[in-house]
Amino acid sequence: MSYLIERLGHQGDGIAAGPVFAPMTLPGERVSGTAIGTRLTDIRIEEPSARRVAPPCRHFKACGGCQLQHADDVFVADFKEGVVRAALSAHGIETQFLPIATSPARARRRATLSARRTKKAAMAGFHGRASDVIIEIPDCRLLHPDLMRAIPVAEALAQHAGTRKGALDVAVCLSRAGLDVNASGGKALDGPLRALLAQLAGTLDLARLAWDGEVIAMRQAPVQSFGAASVTPPPGAFLQATAEGEAALLADVRTALEGAEWVVDLFAGCGTFALPLAEAHRVHAVEGDAAMTEAMDAGWRQADRLKQLTVEARDLYRRPLLPDELKRFDGAVIDPPRAGAEAQMAQLIRAKVPRVAYVSCNPVTFARDAAMAVAEGYSVDAVRVVDQFRWSSHVELVARLTRI
Ligand SMILES: C[S@@+](CC[C@H](N)C(=O)[O-])C[C@H]1O[C@@H](n2cnc3c(N)ncnc32)[C@H](O)[C@@H]1O
Repeated sequence: MSYLIERLGHQGDGIAAGPVFAPMTLPGERVSGTAIGTRLTDIRIEEPSARRVAPPCRHFKACGGCQLQHADDVFVADFKEGVVRAALSAHGIETQFLPIATSPARARRRATLSARRTKKAAMAGFHGRASDVIIEIPDCRLLHPDLMRAIPVAEALAQHAGTRKGALDVAVCLSRAGLDVNASGGKALDGPLRALLAQLAGTLDLARLAWDGEVIAMRQAPVQSFGAASVTPPPGAFLQATAEGEAALLADVRTALEGAEWVVDLFAGCGTFALPLAEAHRVHAVEGDAAMTEAMDAGWRQADRLKQLTVEARDLYRRPLLPDELKRFDGAVIDPPRAGAEAQMAQLIRAKVPRVAYVSCNPVTFARDAAMAVAEGYSVDAVRVVDQFRWSSHVELVARLTRI
């Protein structure tokens, strides 16, 4: 049977009338295939889109790591901007879009690999498309060349410390000192496993190895640079996915805060924005995880020539900063998890903080929060899509809001 692909869904699948979901297709394409429920299989492209390109990675067909390698860069940029535009226009907001900042191929500095013991040894990679089968990715186009070494590392960890039942999740991050690894879902820790893992950390030349968040070996501090400051994040801490994406976000955050003297950084992580901002502003950084605020504080104390930076560990969903606490700031950065920051934005708006840089990994919750601000006299001056998750359907953005 033949189908016309009408649009792309938020997961990156083509959608035909029905709806019928057809992965790796593009709007305007006529395709044939067998519908199993709402999913099309054995897809043949009968009339390809002019935007179709040969996927650059040989793993694309099977690997679930990328969804959009079959489309050219302009299509992907338009698709991602379109998702943000649609989310904003659902609230009646129109704004200026700055050119998308797409991270290059082979730029990802952190990833979570899945690894499993096999009869012979072990295998590691990403999950397959719509499945939990592990697909090996020796020619992956996403991972930074220095992160490719994480594949044999994940295999070795699974071989020696994975269980027969489930997969080992191996979160790996590049640091200045080498690989920073946090594995979970493997064997339960006991004395002999600890000794084995400590030995493996040496053999595999890891900067740090943590098991379910507990540090087993720290051979060298896995340091990250945030502006002039050096920070050793706790295991599994949030970090932006690419150096290029982080630089693009930071540049727009700086622009949004021009003229501010005292800035509050909400959902501040380990200081990705707070520490570079402290070169020009006094900063108060608030984050839910105390280990992260401690790491940020230690980084600030060791850095030269930064202005005052204070940190606070606080649950911003349960206890958002209130207008009384916010009135001293003339600028704010807010970078919440996918759920957005409804409660905290409401307080920022009540406090009339004049400049807000909103960084978001979810256009829907961003648009909801921005609409609250617009209703109370703010304008959304500019939005930029920052594509750190190249070839995926994931959309991230940074926006500049000001109170007129
Ligand atoms: C998208 S990350 C941004 C971190 C940081 N701005 C950066 O760029 O590295 C969101 C941060 O919110 C923190 N977080 C999650 N829930 C929170 C809560 N209820 N209260 C405060 N912070 C929270 C996470 O630990 C994480 O560091």
